[in-house]
Amino acid sequence: MSTTAEIKIDGQTYEFPVITGTEGEKAIDISKLRDLTGHITLDFGYKNTGSTKSAITFLDGEQGVLKYRGYPIEELAEKASFLEVAYLLIYGELPSKETLDKFQKEISMHTLIHEDMKKFFDGYPSKSHPMAQLSSLVCSLSTFYPESLEPNQTEEEKNLTIIKMLAKMTTIVAFIYKKSLGHPLIYPKNKYDYITNYLWMTFGQRTEDFEPNPKVVSAMNKLLILHADHEQNCSTSTVRIVGSSDCNLYASISAGISALWGPLHGGANQAVIEMLEKIKADGGDTDKWIAKAKDKNDPFRMMGFGHRVYKNFDPRAKIIKKACDDILESLGINDPVLEIAKKLEQAALTDQYFIDRKLYPNVDFYSGIIYRALGFPSEMFTVLFALGRLPGWIAQWKEMRTNKEPIGRPRQVYVGDVDKHMK
Ligand code: CMC
Repeated sequence: MSTTAEIKIDGQTYEFPVITGTEGEKAIDISKLRDLTGHITLDFGYKNTGSTKSAITFLDGEQGVLKYRGYPIEELAEKASFLEVAYLLIYGELPSKETLDKFQKEISMHTLIHEDMKKFFDGYPSKSHPMAQLSSLVCSLSTFYPESLEPNQTEEEKNLTIIKMLAKMTTIVAFIYKKSLGHPLIYPKNKYDYITNYLWMTFGQRTEDFEPNPKVVSAMNKLLILHADHEQNCSTSTVRIVGSSDCNLYASISAGISALWGPLHGGANQAVIEMLEKIKADGGDTDKWIAKAKDKNDPFRMMGFGHRVYKNFDPRAKIIKKACDDILESLGINDPVLEIAKKLEQAALTDQYFIDRKLYPNVDFYSGIIYRALGFPSEMFTVLFALGRLPGWIAQWKEMRTNKEPIGRPRQVYVGDVDKHMK
């Protein structure tokens, strides 16, 4: 097995180390390329560029494999709670029962947000998108906790910032939803676990105790676990690159939330439901919409299809499709867009255009149908993705800091005007 790679430029050969990851993936380490050869690499969208070495998440897009800290996603989605997975991602090991209880308790102690944060809601226009609110509210946490601005926090201080981030996120997300309805806010209750507390603040009645439907809790757990990390995707890379300037955790996560918002990334879950609704309103002719997706003169894309790394199937989509059938059946919901989704999937999977480009349903294709069944409006879907992705972003930010990675700063090939002068 080769441990070096050669690059030949202008007749001269340069040697670079080949490094191999623990799952066998190979990379040419070109850290010294520019120093040695005067050249840089050009890779639009970083399709072939490894930006870091990470021990958090492994995925094999060809085989449809996804593991967090070595544990297969299928096992975690089946057997773990979201908080256990959050602990696993952030601290590297699954927690013991005692550790998990302590973790939950620490989080419960910090779920309140500063009362002044509620005033921000008065400034947002009534129809402002929840993702805009989430991004600005999370960034604003840094104004209430200025100690987080210190780049050289001790481990204990850094950990408190992390706990606060996890704790306040559910409250912020629930408040955004309540405000969008014009309803009174419901405050967190320490007796509930992470997910139940979130559901209480979202769907509870202030005067009554809350008995969450175990099927809803289980579906939420599963969805959030499936979204919890996905290695160096657009939003995670954003969190790492913002954090690499020694920027605080809250601002780094806020930047990740903005990156997630776009419809090509996490915003796809909202876009999928809107697309399915549009197809339904148009008479449900899936062939017509498949033809539109294939037409290069038509900007329409099949939302919820395709992935930068999964080129066989998205293992998360497999789990979600089953969960979608289960939850709809157990809640007795008959959503007509589910039929359209299944017809689209079937048609696309047998269509040569989609086969040639290896386009399969991704995690967002069915997640919106579940969120809708649980009672969420489509504008909240990407916010829920962010809630799930939070532990992954934190883990990646922490790893980047622990490994003292250098500030992220890609280069470019300049193609603009040269030597212009003013009159
Ligand atoms: N519908 C129709 N054609 C598509 C689609 C689609 N959804 N996705 C890719 N293609 C075509 C694309 O036009 C191109 O065709 P050609 O080779 O003829 O020019 C080819 O497939 C390769 O596409 P690409 O845009 O170069 O692939 P990418 O790796 O840059 O993009 C993607 C990946 C996810 C942005 C893209 O597949 C897409 O836009 N999908 C729809 C949005 C979506 O569902 N996003 C959620 C991703 S999963 C959640 C997450 O983790 O972010």
